[in-house]
Amino acid sequence: MRPLGVILVAMLPAMSATAEDEATQDSIAYVPSLGEIMTKIELSRSKLWYSVRLRNWTLAVYQLGQVKSGFRDLELLYPMPTSDLAETDRITLLLEEAVKTKDEKRFDQFFAEMTDECNDCHKTKGVPFLHVGVPKVPDPYGERMLEPTMTR
Ligand code: HEC
Repeated sequence: MRPLGVILVAMLPAMSATAEDEATQDSIAYVPSLGEIMTKIELSRSKLWYSVRLRNWTLAVYQLGQVKSGFRDLELLYPMPTSDLAETDRITLLLEEAVKTKDEKRFDQFFAEMTDECNDCHKTKGVPFLHVGVPKVPDPYGERMLEPTMTR
């Protein structure tokens, strides 16, 4: 068996190469495109809706958090006039309340408002053909990850 010191010295060049690699990676950090952020928001928003249909409230809280983080990324990486996102921020808070109080009716109301908001912004930004709607049943995820029983 080699003494520990020899092993450590032998590892040094490999360690500094890793540090260099990291520096290179930092300078070409991956930045998601606006379309990618939107696709993520859309996916989480749809999973949010299906979670509520299945009354999987824990997953609903998580998916709403994903929608929020999508909008946060959007604000950070693609700054827009604050008025563009004021309504989505307001409605997100209402959705959060509905999910936390497990109020399906209010959830549906605010989800519809949010959908209008998505489409309004797409119209304003010159992409009205990117029309989003309320998800349809049956859900495309086969209920596999959405069913509350799956977490048991
Ligand atoms: C503040 C404005 C704004 C809001 C609010 C907004 N979007 Fe978008 N969205 C855009 C823009 C701009 C694009 C076009 C992105 C591009 O050029 O790739 C887009 C694109 C998209 C796309 C197409 C992505 C692709 O590349 O296939 C989807 C899906 C989408 N949005 C969903 C949503 C959903 C769902 C909401 C609401 C929960 C929403 N958007 C809210 C501005 C917005």
